[in-house]
Amino acid sequence: MSIRTVIGALIAMAVLLGVCGEGRIAFADESGEARRGILIVAFGSSVPEGEAAILAVESAVKKAWPDIEVRVAYTSRIIMRKIAREQGRTIDEPAIALAKMAYEGFTHVAVLSTHIIPGAEYQDLEAVVDGFRSMRERGTKAGFEYIGLSMPLLANANDFARLAQTLTESYASEGRDGAVVFVGHGTHHFSDAAYSALQIALWRRSPNFFVGTIEGLPSYGDVLAQLKKTKNKRVTLVPAMLVAGDHAQNDIGGDDDDSWKKLLSGEGFSVTPKFQGLGQVEAVQRLLIDKLREVWSDSSP
Ligand code: CO
Repeated sequence: MSIRTVIGALIAMAVLLGVCGEGRIAFADESGEARRGILIVAFGSSVPEGEAAILAVESAVKKAWPDIEVRVAYTSRIIMRKIAREQGRTIDEPAIALAKMAYEGFTHVAVLSTHIIPGAEYQDLEAVVDGFRSMRERGTKAGFEYIGLSMPLLANANDFARLAQTLTESYASEGRDGAVVFVGHGTHHFSDAAYSALQIALWRRSPNFFVGTIEGLPSYGDVLAQLKKTKNKRVTLVPAMLVAGDHAQNDIGGDDDDSWKKLLSGEGFSVTPKFQGLGQVEAVQRLLIDKLREVWSDSSP
């Protein structure tokens, strides 16, 4: 090869790289180097108050792993479409985000589930992660050398006591001389039982902490019956969801006649709603990071 050919090839490469703009795509198979990445998966939120919680988790994760690239995917297509339509931003769903990471040469990926319970949405995410894992297990170069998925906040036997401790400590002042009601989403899925288990774990610490859900058990009626048994007239409503989005703004703390705030006020309670998602509670961020750390400990990049 003449020197002129070599220089020509170098110039051609430089031009190509310049045109590509974002730099060379380093495939794992070419470089042989491990490239680790973290994908945070959330249901999503189209309102800034809700997105703040996802951004808070993202920055906490980046702080914990400063050398690892962190990306975010949403699972709600309705929210992703709304954001694309109204804000012109594209957010990927997990399968697309992971496909891009595989294409870009990530070799070891930890997926952070921000789900509260192992319900239907978590199972969907599990299926996607399992799909990517099975690519490599079949002896192909597709997928990743390693992919792991963290467990939801309430998945193992000791999670209930841990989250109960985290919540009672984070809302200690509100729970000192008033009731604190954590309102979760709730689901028809069997894992809805986790909310009732959390209630037991909270009561072991203090009689002032309650759990209710919008779509499952304990219901609003269950919580009301318990509140009436206490002497508390002050109630703080806290969303037990990653984000304080639509449900927090409307069903829980909103001014509609059927919001929890309105209903409890009608029962004579003085109600203060909090508009802070669990993702904005530092101690909950630490729980999520611990769950993610368990995933990394399985990998060997
Ligand atoms: Co909902």
